Amino acid sequence: MKGFETYKTLEELDNESKYLVHKAKEAAHHAYAPYSKFYVGAALILEDGTLVTGSNQENASYPLCMCAERVALYAAASQFHGKAILKMAVVAHKKNHKELSAAASCGACRQVMAEFEERQRKPIEVIMHHTDNQWIKCPSASSLLPFVFTKASLNEPG
Ligand code: THU
Repeated sequence: MKGFETYKTLEELDNESKYLVHKAKEAAHHAYAPYSKFYVGAALILEDGTLVTGSNQENASYPLCMCAERVALYAAASQFHGKAILKMAVVAHKKNHKELSAAASCGACRQVMAEFEERQRKPIEVIMHHTDNQWIKCPSASSLLPFVFTKASLNEPG
């Protein structure tokens, strides 16, 4: 796929990406996931170097569960308003699994990432750990969501 880079090991990634993956792993330890037992961590870096992390937070009322990515994105917007997000890493692991699980962000998170990207007019690079132990560097959130629904769609005539 055009613009997507894949890496067989974490060591092959650039230092900043490795750092973000490391922080995402730490964040996953703060997940509250008693229902799915799927622990997700996200870490993002802002244009001034600030790090923001998030983890998934579940609820007995299942639809209220919130993904790690959106926890991190909304925290960044509320605490560091106006600062662009440059890159985000997402990792996940299952209970009692030492190895990381594949963590391809869900469609809802991709939609939210895409709107952040549109707002800041700068791409957000996304690092994900995918199946077959592959690391994927995605050039932008919009690359993860072709034909995205945006604000503009709401304003189109007819
Ligand atoms: N989850 C995330 O945190 N990010 C995603 O992109 C996919 C799913 C969480 C939500 C829920 O707490 C658990 O993983 C199982 O779906």
